[in-house]
Amino acid sequence: MEKNKPNSTLQKPLTSSMEDYLEAIYNLGKEKRVVRVKDIAKTLGVKMPTVTNMLKTLSKRELIDYEKYEYLELTKKGNRIGKEIDRRHNVLRNFLVSILKINSKKADEEACKMEHAISHSTLERFVEFMAFLQSCPRAGAGWLENFDKYLQHDRDPNKCLEWMKEFSDEFKDTMETIKEEDKGRGTQQR
Ligand code: FE2
Repeated sequence: MEKNKPNSTLQKPLTSSMEDYLEAIYNLGKEKRVVRVKDIAKTLGVKMPTVTNMLKTLSKRELIDYEKYEYLELTKKGNRIGKEIDRRHNVLRNFLVSILKINSKKADEEACKMEHAISHSTLERFVEFMAFLQSCPRAGAGWLENFDKYLQHDRDPNKCLEWMKEFSDEFKDTMETIKEEDKGRGTQQR
C-alpha cells in the first residue's frame, strides 16, 4: 500500500535555491563533460558541505544523479528545469542590458532573482516585446500602442511596415503644414 502512495517530496514546488543549483549545474554541464561538487561551490560561492546537503535533496527529488561522491549529472527532469531557468535568465538579462541599459554585472544578479518569480506567460511577453522592438519602427507618439496591436495581429512583422508607412505619411503631412505656416509668417513679416 505504502508503495502506491504518491511521493509528496517529488511534488513540492522547487525553492529558488534549488532552481539556482539546477541552473548552475546545467551551465557547468555545457562547459565540461562532468560536473564536480567543487565547481558548483565555486560558481555559487557557497561552502562544500552546503552544496553536499543540497545535492542530497536534489537527488531525492530525482533531479540529479549523484551516486559517486565527487561527480554528478542532471536527470532528464533536472535538465529540463535547469535549461528553462537558464533561458529565463538570458531573456531577462537581455532585456535589462539591451533595453534598460543596466550594466551586465547588475543585470546578471537581478535576472537571477527575477527568474524564479516571473510567470511563464509574462516571460513570453518579454520575449515578444523584444521581438517587437526589433521589427517595429520606433516612431510616432503612438508607437508603443502598436505593441498591443502587434500582439492582436499574431505578431505579424508586416503590420509594422503598414504602421511605418502610416507614420511616414502623417509625418510628411505635418512637415508640409509646418512649411506652409512658415511661409505664411514670412509673408506677414515682409
Ligand atoms: Fe540565474
